[in-house]
Amino acid sequence: MDFLLSDIGELTTNNGEARHDAAVAVSDGTIVWVGDSDSTPSAFRAFPRLGAGGRAVLPGFVDAHTHCVFAGERSAEFASRMHGERYEDILAAGGGIRSTVRATRAATAEELTELARIRLDRMLGHGATTVEIKSGYGLELNSERKMLQVIAELALTHPVDVVPTFLGAHVVPSEYREDRAEYVRVVIDEMLPACAPLARYCDVFCDEGAFTVEEARTILSAGLRAGLRPRMHVEQLVATGGAELAGEVGAASADHLDHVTPSGVEALRSAGTVAVLLPAVSLSMRTPQPPARTLLDAGVPVAIATDCNPGTSYVESMPLVIALAVIEMGLTPEEAVWAATRGGALALEERRKGLVVEGAAADLIVLDAPSAVHLAYRPGANLVGSVIKDGGFLVDALGLAP
Ligand code: NIG
Ligand code: FE
Repeated sequence: MDFLLSDIGELTTNNGEARHDAAVAVSDGTIVWVGDSDSTPSAFRAFPRLGAGGRAVLPGFVDAHTHCVFAGERSAEFASRMHGERYEDILAAGGGIRSTVRATRAATAEELTELARIRLDRMLGHGATTVEIKSGYGLELNSERKMLQVIAELALTHPVDVVPTFLGAHVVPSEYREDRAEYVRVVIDEMLPACAPLARYCDVFCDEGAFTVEEARTILSAGLRAGLRPRMHVEQLVATGGAELAGEVGAASADHLDHVTPSGVEALRSAGTVAVLLPAVSLSMRTPQPPARTLLDAGVPVAIATDCNPGTSYVESMPLVIALAVIEMGLTPEEAVWAATRGGALALEERRKGLVVEGAAADLIVLDAPSAVHLAYRPGANLVGSVIKDGGFLVDALGLAP
C-alpha cells in the first residue's frame, strides 16, 4: 500500500532534530520520502493522503530484551518480595526463574505460543513493532528447542518482527547444582548444535547466582563458532566484570548494568556495544536505576527495553519504560525516545529500523498527542493511537487507514 502520512505535528526521525508540520511517504513497506507537509513532491502528492491531524509520529518501538515466552506466573513471589524477601534468596531456594522453568517445561508448544501471542498483541498495542525474545526457561535440550520453535512460530504468524535469542545459560538448573561444569558442557555440546539454527543471538546471564565470567566466555565463544552473535545479562545483581567480557567478545549488547564499573563502561564504549537498560526491572526490584547518565556521557549507545518476564518485570509497555527512563533514570525525553527506537534497533543490529528516513522500514507510531514528550509526561495512559508495520496498519484506534 502506498500512502502519504501528512499533517504530522512533530516527527521524530532520529536523524537530526525533530521535524514539525512534516509528511512521510510510504511505498511497498518502505519510507520513500520525508519532508515538510507543504513541500511534498508531486509524485507523492498523488498517493492516498492520510492526515495525522497535528499528532506526533515516531518510529515503532524496538523492544530489544524480553523473555515473553513462558508459562505460569509469579504473583505470589512478587508479593513476597513486596513483603521484603530478596530475589536472590528466592532464586537460591529453587524459586524465581526455576519455578518458571518448571511451568515452561510442562507446557506444550501450542500453549506457550498462545500465551506469548497475547503478550505480543499487548506489546504491539503499546507501539512495539520489533521484539527480541529469549529462550532460557527450558534449561534442557528439548525444552530450550521447544521455546525457540515457539519463538519461530510467533515470528512467522505474529505481525511484529521477532528476533530469537538462545539463553540456555540463564541459570544452572536444579538437577546440575552439584556439577555446574557438566551443565556448561551440555549447553555447548548438546543444546547449541540443536538451537543455533533457530536463533540469531546467544545470551548468558552472567551474575551472582547465575554464570561466572569464565563460564560466560566459554559459552559465548562456542555460540560464535555456531554462528550466534553474543549479547549478555551483566552486572544486574553485583559487579562481576561481565561488561568487560561483553566488550571483549564484541557483544551486540550488554543488558541491565546496574553495577557497571568504570572499566566496564570503557570496555563497552571501545567495543561499540549497546547498553540495554531496563528501568521497569528496577521498579519491580525496588532497586536504584542503572547509571544511564554515566553511560551516555561516556559515549556508550543506550537502548531501553521492557525485559518482559514473569519475575522481575511483567511489563509489556514500552511507553511505561520510556516514562521510567525519563523520570527515574535521568534520561531526557528525547534520549529516552531514541533509546526505545533507534537504540533498540542498534542493539538488535537492525539497520533499517528505528529511523524515519528514506529507505528505512515503514514501522511507525502515530501518538494521540502532539509530541513524543507526552510519553514520559503522562505515564500510565496508552497514547499509542495507530501502529504501522512495513507500511500496513496493525493498530488504528485513530481511524487513519484508508
Ligand atoms: O532479565 N536477569 C535474569 N533474567 C531475567 C529475570 C527472569 C526471571 O526472574 O524470570 C531478567 O531480569
Ligand atoms: Fe533478561
